[in-house]
Amino acid sequence: TAGGVRTRSAYHFQPAKNWQNDPNGPMYHNGVYHLFYQYNPLGATWGTGNLSWGHSVSRDLVNWVTLDTALDPTAPFDSNGCWSGSATILPGGIPALLYTGRIGTGKGMQVQNVAFPKNPADPLLREWVKPAYNPVIPLPADVPGDNFRDPTTAWVGRDGMWRIAVAAKVGGPNGIASTLIYRSKDFRHWKRNTLPLYTSRAAGMVECPDLFPVAEPGVEEGLLGYVSGTVSGTVRHVLKLSVMNTTQDYYMVGRYDDAADTFVPELDNERILDDFRTWRRFDYGHVYASKSFFDMRKNRRVLWAWASESDNMDDDIAKGWSGVQTVPRKVWLDGDGKQLRQWPIEEIETLRSKRVVGLLGAQVNAGGVNKIVGVGAQADVEAIFEISSLEEAETFEPNWLLDPQKLCEEKGASVPGGVGPFGLLVMASGDMQEHTAVFFRVFRQNDKYKVLMCTDLSKSSTRDGVYKPPYGAFVDMDIEAHGGIISLRTLVDHSVVESFGGGGRTCITARVYPDHVVNGNSHLYVFNNGTGAVKVSSLDAWEMATATVNVLPDGLIAA
Ligand code: FRU
Repeated sequence: TAGGVRTRSAYHFQPAKNWQNDPNGPMYHNGVYHLFYQYNPLGATWGTGNLSWGHSVSRDLVNWVTLDTALDPTAPFDSNGCWSGSATILPGGIPALLYTGRIGTGKGMQVQNVAFPKNPADPLLREWVKPAYNPVIPLPADVPGDNFRDPTTAWVGRDGMWRIAVAAKVGGPNGIASTLIYRSKDFRHWKRNTLPLYTSRAAGMVECPDLFPVAEPGVEEGLLGYVSGTVSGTVRHVLKLSVMNTTQDYYMVGRYDDAADTFVPELDNERILDDFRTWRRFDYGHVYASKSFFDMRKNRRVLWAWASESDNMDDDIAKGWSGVQTVPRKVWLDGDGKQLRQWPIEEIETLRSKRVVGLLGAQVNAGGVNKIVGVGAQADVEAIFEISSLEEAETFEPNWLLDPQKLCEEKGASVPGGVGPFGLLVMASGDMQEHTAVFFRVFRQNDKYKVLMCTDLSKSSTRDGVYKPPYGAFVDMDIEAHGGIISLRTLVDHSVVESFGGGGRTCITARVYPDHVVNGNSHLYVFNNGTGAVKVSSLDAWEMATATVNVLPDGLIAA
């Protein structure tokens, strides 16, 4: 349909057609980036979950060549689905994939398998073989069959043994959501630790765990997580869990000890260990099942995450595809030692084409809406706002702390405030009936300030049957100490609005389905609905070129 073509992403990764969900096994190997993903070769829905691993390769994480599926559900140990997993590069440079095999019908049974390249000398690692000795980890007796999955990248502890984490519900149907650790000497025989790395009474089941080390606070380089000796000591780690009840990814920063295989989070007074709702999130919008890898080429940790559709299944079947990946993001520990910062990998900037500079130094006064001419549905926008005075900030009520999303709903872009709401209107129709607002609002809390960031979808589309929530989160920064200056970067890609607030402290990804794109153009505006003026210190907007994706290795466009 025309709508399907218009909402298709131009630089957020997606296969040529059909369903994709979780990113799987990302790695950099012999000069090539690999991305595998949960893929249904037969259609645009998850279907019965009888999934394959799609496989694409790239030299820059932006432009992609499509390959045949790497894993298909053809063996007795994965006959009903090759589910999520990770890649590990073994000593000697041979990569291994660990993944979940689903066996049997109905809820089935989940086991962990390994696969290796058929020809390790093939620069693209096109074919993968699954040894007949699989599964390498059968279902444990105390785990209900359909609750054992998503092995992580393996790492080596000081004892020289491999370790992986696997998500499981332990102890019957009402068991406890756990992240189990297995150890192995040879990558084939795995033994479960008595104690899990982490358990939570608050979550029914967790999926897709990720454990990775981060460098010193404020240092943007990443650390390799699977070389002996780098995993413990004074280094901080991040534990990420995808929580099924809310379909959100949560993380904690803490200390991982590779002798006991324990993770001790470093909590502040706002975060409670057994209440994942208080944990920080990679993204406060619509992403799930994220996975990171260490990028040896640029010494950084890179995160991928799945952003599913939020229209409805009939639309997906009609357009023939479903699901995109966020742009790959560099991840590092903020100078405060508590939160992660994220930023689109710099290679994305190679797609910047026509540059539009708007409003340099302009004041946007109360009620102001300024059009930025020349950019629309495929754009990268970077703005720096300077709040003239924090005097007018509205008073913060403590009960708002746990529900910033509700606050964004009550105090949407059109509700005038003191300091803000100010920010961007993207994917706006010519008549402004449709627009997606990405904005900040600053509150006073005692003698401090609290910054709220929202992506308000309530006006994003005039269509019914699409999900149009307000997304919201606080930006953990001292706006006063920053001189009232706050940045916003928003990547607009037809149906994707991916925003990085406060230098990547708070990220919100939304999927939007405006009606106007079928016949009209989309526009960009800067707005301010606060009493006080806001200065736009800089605003750079680029029209983005379309990335080359889904081309065949020989350079032909895939049919
Ligand atoms: C997360 C997930 C994983 C599973 C895969 C199946 O979205 O449910 O736990 O391995 O998707 O497609």
